[in-house]
Amino acid sequence: MIAKVALIFLAALSVVLLILYSGLRHRSRLARRRRQGRKVGWGKIPLSSIYEISPHFERNERGPLASTEVRHIANDNTPGGVSDYESWILCNLAKRAKSIFEFGTATGKTTYLLGANSPTETTVYTLTLALTEHASYQHASGDARGDFANAIKESKFDQFVYSGTTIARKVVQLYGDSKTFPYHTYYDCMDLIFIDGSHARSYIESDSKNALAMLRAGGYILWHDYRGPDVTPGVFEALNLLSDNMPLIQIRGTCLVLYQKPLDA
Ligand SMILES: C[S@@+](CC[C@H](N)C(=O)[O-])C[C@H]1O[C@@H](n2cnc3c(N)ncnc32)[C@H](O)[C@@H]1O
Repeated sequence: MIAKVALIFLAALSVVLLILYSGLRHRSRLARRRRQGRKVGWGKIPLSSIYEISPHFERNERGPLASTEVRHIANDNTPGGVSDYESWILCNLAKRAKSIFEFGTATGKTTYLLGANSPTETTVYTLTLALTEHASYQHASGDARGDFANAIKESKFDQFVYSGTTIARKVVQLYGDSKTFPYHTYYDCMDLIFIDGSHARSYIESDSKNALAMLRAGGYILWHDYRGPDVTPGVFEALNLLSDNMPLIQIRGTCLVLYQKPLDA
């Protein structure tokens, strides 16, 4: 009888210890993921410096060369804005782009800068959800709730940084939901595409598909906010999946991911 009780006690104790052990392992794994998620550049997409990616970015021991100078507006708590370093990269790529497409206008600061730094004949198309179109947003079952709330929160501008400036003539402001917008007139036309609309997974997938159809051979797509599974899970999961079939690169020091379409594609 005593042996039986001892056996039951030992079995129960092992179960409790096993549960405690897996709980602790799970917590330490979560903590590690959180720590890594805060660092830019830990996902499965390889990291590379912009100087290794593009011959148009050059630096020496004094830093980037004067040839990389751009017109600039600081990110001073700009809603939804890119960092100053990310902006410098986008603006340098814009210098050689005749047709640019931006998913997500927000304040229009990046739109303005893409226009200000590109050749005179360049057109910048920028698509955004208008104030009056919130109901057309299409939340999908695998999307994080927070992404829907953020997308709606940022869809509040009807005047933009470029409005009333000389850059406005280079900008075509497009309104609509990016899942249902008719892109076919822009197929194979774009030299530079910036994906920075809704960060929900289903939107990143859909925007990427449409961007690839619009991209010209030799052109670039840049995605913003590849910040890890805890901060922007939709962007993280969709881009990791895409990287199984495409050579994506995360630009060091940024949360930008870049793809260049081969010239012979
Ligand atoms: C992060 S902000 C864009 C920031 C901007 N690219 C910049 O660099 O300043 C996201 C933008 O995406 C737009 N957006 C969100 N969901 C959208 C949707 N379903 N279709 C089109 N635009 C959307 C929002 O209106 C918002 O302007």
